[in-house]
Amino acid sequence: MGPKRQIGARRLAGIGTSIFSEITALAVEHGAANLGQGFPDFAAPAFVKEAAARHIRDDRNQYAASPGVPRLRRALADDQRRRWPDGPGVDPDTEVTVGSGATELLHDALLALVDPGDEVIVFEPAYDAYGPDVAMAGGAVRAVPLAPPDWGFDPAALAAAFGPRTRALILNTPHNPTGRVFRRPELEVIAELCRRHDVIVIADEVYSELTFGAPHTSIATLPGMFERSITVDSMGKTFSVTGWKVGWAIAPAPLTAALRAVHQFVTFTNAAPFQEALADVLPMAAAEGYYAGLRADYARRRDLLAAALRGARLDPAPVDGAYFLLADLRPHGVADDVAFCRRLVTEVGVAAIPTSVFYGDPAAAPPFARFCFAKSDQTLRAAAARLAARP
Ligand SMILES: Cc1ncc(COP(=O)(O)O)c(C=O)c1O
Repeated sequence: MGPKRQIGARRLAGIGTSIFSEITALAVEHGAANLGQGFPDFAAPAFVKEAAARHIRDDRNQYAASPGVPRLRRALADDQRRRWPDGPGVDPDTEVTVGSGATELLHDALLALVDPGDEVIVFEPAYDAYGPDVAMAGGAVRAVPLAPPDWGFDPAALAAAFGPRTRALILNTPHNPTGRVFRRPELEVIAELCRRHDVIVIADEVYSELTFGAPHTSIATLPGMFERSITVDSMGKTFSVTGWKVGWAIAPAPLTAALRAVHQFVTFTNAAPFQEALADVLPMAAAEGYYAGLRADYARRRDLLAAALRGARLDPAPVDGAYFLLADLRPHGVADDVAFCRRLVTEVGVAAIPTSVFYGDPAAAPPFARFCFAKSDQTLRAAAARLAARP
């Protein structure tokens, strides 16, 4: 006989299997063109793969230092000068932490900051990890809506979300799922409120290199904001290696110390050869114009998918960043985006993600479908053909 007590801890209430797993399983079962989960299905750049292979051959195979291998932290601090030309310099010893992807560092940051009863402001729709991360830290999400069609926020609604229990605000720019890049005046509104209410910003910038025209600005570079920001990024999206799970967090020394206290007992450290690889890759990528090439390549993939969606009357709104297109389902009389995406994958053979899953209360969400264009031409063309044949 199994245990008589409830198995899961109370903090797991409401954390179930995600729609991503269900849509992926349906995509496999139906041989669908999979534009669901956000990862590239094409090869990673050769110079990136060779760097990791070299370090495995060179036997960099044992535990790395918990905050990250020193030469990677130095490389990240150097690269930060390219990213933040006018911004604060970063100390590799006390202000950079390497972890198992952005996912781990976001989790660490929330555990490091949030006490039971604290509130965390999150813009909705929101990446699906934030809610569970806040819940596992014992906090509560205060959601502020981003409204279609341009997915901006109402400054008054944001101001009203701040209160005595607000501990942190999570800001994801470029934004998943909407593709929005927050503009400087918006960042100034957020920054002013965070300074006024003594709130820490957790900036999730994993799509920082994937912008199409609109420049990416880190909120940490605004006046008085470095001191109260944890900026999280990752090599997964930028170098098409989401499975390597190398992410990093930039934060002032006191915040870094709190973050590292959690990190050392969550994963302690992550894959040494991949960390070494990133240390090689960062200066090479900057010197060889990799980032401009990446943006041009993604702009092409975006245009391919946008044309396919338009052809299927699923007109996507223009996007500034990240690698998703959203189709508004309301003009089609669709109210239930989950049912729509289930039908799309089983009957049409194209997998997409319903965006209502990015809301705390899916029933209140506008129905949209998210299509990922981090996909090979072959996958995008297969999706286009199936969408064109859609009844
Ligand atoms: C907004 C956002 N944050 C974080 C992550 C996870 O990043 P990583 O793979 O580095 O853990 C993702 C991945 O899809 C994402 O979209």
